Amino acid sequence: MKAGDFPKEIAAFRARSPVRGRKTLQAAMLYNRTMPIPERLNPTFASARTPAPVHLDPLEKARKRLIVALDVPDAAAAAELVAQLENTCCWFKVGLELFTAAGPAVIEPLVRRGHSVFLDLKFHDIPNTVAGAVRSVAALGVRMITLHAAGGPAMLTAAKAALNGVENPPELLAVTVLTSMDRTQVNAVGLDRSPAEQVELLARMGLAAGMHGFVCSPSEVASLRALTGPEAVLVIPGIRPVGAEAGDQKRIATPAEALRLGASYLVMGRPITQAPDPAEAAEAILREMAGAF
Ligand code: C5P
Repeated sequence: MKAGDFPKEIAAFRARSPVRGRKTLQAAMLYNRTMPIPERLNPTFASARTPAPVHLDPLEKARKRLIVALDVPDAAAAAELVAQLENTCCWFKVGLELFTAAGPAVIEPLVRRGHSVFLDLKFHDIPNTVAGAVRSVAALGVRMITLHAAGGPAMLTAAKAALNGVENPPELLAVTVLTSMDRTQVNAVGLDRSPAEQVELLARMGLAAGMHGFVCSPSEVASLRALTGPEAVLVIPGIRPVGAEAGDQKRIATPAEALRLGASYLVMGRPITQAPDPAEAAEAILREMAGAF
């Protein structure tokens, strides 16, 4: 294939991308609307098959609970990562960096290819504004969205109400205390509490406002699980495989530890995305997670 063989939209995409070479071509192809969806990812194909057995193989169970954070600067870099990981992982998290650079258009190819998308924009504003934002993102077909519990009960209630009547609504997750915050950071914003105490306070408030999804660090997952019961969705970042760099994360655990403590989903970015071979790194993490079941 030569450059002239590509439709105009792919040529434009490649011209904008800071990444050059074969990988950019694969990335551009991923974003081409005319590209067929692989059978494995085709939702119609999946639903035509016999329903999945209730007892999944531990590795499959792990795959359904690992969310890869696409913390990259643009759509080309995201597409490149997804192309490398989509045979290994089925959940991708789009956060502030990518969404701000690439806009809502970055979600569409992921959803179309059958992936589950966690849109992590951590809304925190007046109730009316957050309700509007929740309605807007619900229309994108994402499966989880976040807002800061610190926005208060009125904001949480308005966000929840915004999903009334939405067909197949995304899970609303209240972020408690960022995993990058230790006691010093928590105290610096005027709270005379430990991160654990602040997480508990916010979780109790969230539960009272009707939330049943939360984001917290591995250090608080066990107490949060005890507080919320088995039905709540607990999404846990700050996960590091044995021997990995912590980076800016302060309250961390290994994948198996976090699952044993009660996590529903694990979010991982750098240990996968910055590995020399992201798919291989993800496979190793899945095996580590599978050991917890
Ligand atoms: O690279 P790393 O594994 O640290 O990425 C963690 C991801 O989880 C980042 O995208 C970060 O924004 C997100 N996150 C977090 N702490 C929270 C909520 C989300 O680290 N409380």
